[in-house]
Amino acid sequence: MQTGIQQHGTILTTGCCQEHFTGSFFRGNFMMKRIAFTGAVLLSSLMSFTVMAAAPLSPEEQAAADVATRQAVFKLLAFNNGIVGGMARGGAFDAAAAKSALERIEMLSTMIPEVFGKDTRAFKGAKTAASDTIWDGKADLAKMASDLGAAAKAAQATLAAKPNADGAKEVAAAVGPKCGACHDRFRLK
Ligand code: HEC
Repeated sequence: MQTGIQQHGTILTTGCCQEHFTGSFFRGNFMMKRIAFTGAVLLSSLMSFTVMAAAPLSPEEQAAADVATRQAVFKLLAFNNGIVGGMARGGAFDAAAAKSALERIEMLSTMIPEVFGKDTRAFKGAKTAASDTIWDGKADLAKMASDLGAAAKAAQATLAAKPNADGAKEVAAAVGPKCGACHDRFRLK
């Protein structure tokens, strides 16, 4: 019985390439490539399986990952705050961009207490500017996060009423201090 591979080899050797390859050489070459390819696919799926089944992170690695996650939330907050801040400082006003930036700040603010869920104080290797006092003052942290969310929500109404540079200035002056208040209290210099 002919396999699909042999059929392939036969078809290919009847074409123009016949001058350059003998049938058996080409078939052999094709088979080898095929085997190598199958091997590579098998290996890569085995490797990805290995990655999936990898041992859980060490406590130190987990702490570093937790710190990176919360810093990512703040980077995104800063990115969006910068959009409104740029308009407040005289950049071109864009009502839709300002609105979506404020919606994102409102949404991201709800993640702040969550990303501090893991107490990383014990892991001195993790590079963090988070004050150890956060984990003794979780209620205050949550309050400051929700203050930021409330300010970002109110700012959307302000901007809807004043869709211009003045509105952007007002909004930046209302939201920015909510970041600063928490930094003064819980972010190390
Ligand atoms: C409820 C508290 C809180 C609020 C509100 C808050 N921050 Fe922070 N922020 C922190 C803490 C704590 C850190 C340090 C995190 C760390 O290093 O683990 C931080 C870190 C940062 C960082 C550095 C991130 C990094 O890559 O290391 C930036 C930028 C930042 N905040 C911007 C903002 C902006 C902009 C806002 C407001 C839109 C804001 N934050 C609101 C507490 C807060």
